[in-house]
Amino acid sequence: METSKNQISIIGLGPMGIKIATLYIQQGFQVTVFNRTQAKTDPLVKLGAKRAETVREALAASPVSIVIVHNYGVVNELFSSLENDDVLSGKTIVQLTTGTAQEARLSETWFRKRNAAYIDGAIQVAPEQMAQPDTTILFAGNTDKYQELLHRLTILGGNLKYLGENIGAAAAMDTATLSYIYGAAAGFLHGALIAESENFDVKEYGNIIAEIAPGMGEFLKHEGKVIASGDFSISQSPLSISVEATERILATAKLSGINTEFPEFSANWLKRAELAGYGQEEFAAVIKTLRQQA
Ligand SMILES: NC(=O)c1ccc[n+]([C@@H]2O[C@H](COP(=O)([O-])OP(=O)(O)OC[C@H]3O[C@@H](n4cnc5c(N)ncnc54)[C@H](OP(=O)(O)O)[C@@H]3O)[C@@H](O)[C@H]2O)c1
Repeated sequence: METSKNQISIIGLGPMGIKIATLYIQQGFQVTVFNRTQAKTDPLVKLGAKRAETVREALAASPVSIVIVHNYGVVNELFSSLENDDVLSGKTIVQLTTGTAQEARLSETWFRKRNAAYIDGAIQVAPEQMAQPDTTILFAGNTDKYQELLHRLTILGGNLKYLGENIGAAAAMDTATLSYIYGAAAGFLHGALIAESENFDVKEYGNIIAEIAPGMGEFLKHEGKVIASGDFSISQSPLSISVEATERILATAKLSGINTEFPEFSANWLKRAELAGYGQEEFAAVIKTLRQQA
């Protein structure tokens, strides 16, 4: 039976929007879909979705609309024609498009001015990893509205993290988690260069990384607590050990004649912290020199 509780519109059918629309259809929702390239709606219509010809039609069809397009430039483009339209009044927008905290804030202001409720979210996984018990999605926005939406949002994943009413929080946390991911990935690629230069199996190197990654996660969780506490006295790993390690990685790269950019960067960061007098503090004390730079 169609009730307002099981209606949802999905605006944007890239790989993630298609996955999200499919999940709601599978859960018996009455799904309305909009996409610039209309052909992408066809398989979803075959599964039972309704096709909206315009963003306005998609918004009008459901009390809640998920927006999941390439970036905020596209969001602005798609909604610009609704500047003076009352279709948004009383509606709820769940913005899952990736962006910065500033973009989330500006977007919330725009939608609120048109009397729409606004929740911002940041998906931490690829489409095929959606709707799993450990699928992490970050959310921010009005607490009551988030609670009201939970029966819809839990369909997307089992590990939803509500970060509070500051609408920029999910996007800011997404930028932080991405910083971690690209930092780790840069180190991973340098490790692959070492593997190649020493003729050992890069695939096996990837396997070993996967095995040590959970332990590294626990270590970083601890370092996060250290930074939050402001107490950098040694509890797990003195910075001096890591200074030596990064210098060794740099020396190895020079000897092997492989690219030295990553080890130069990491050795430099850690050495500066040691020179600032933090060598006998916990590894996370590096952040104190980075803060000074800001
Ligand atoms: N895929 C992932 O692994 C993943 C993971 C986490 C978060 N996200 C986020 O989810 C959002 C969507 O990602 P995605 O992977 O599904 O696909 P995407 O390639 O980032 O975005 C595709 C969507 O944006 C629309 N679009 C692009 N330019 C447009 C324009 N100028 N006017 C109108 N529509 C336009 C596309 O419409 P057309 O079909 O007409 O081109 C399509 O609906 C992004 O913000 C992404 O960062 C994705």
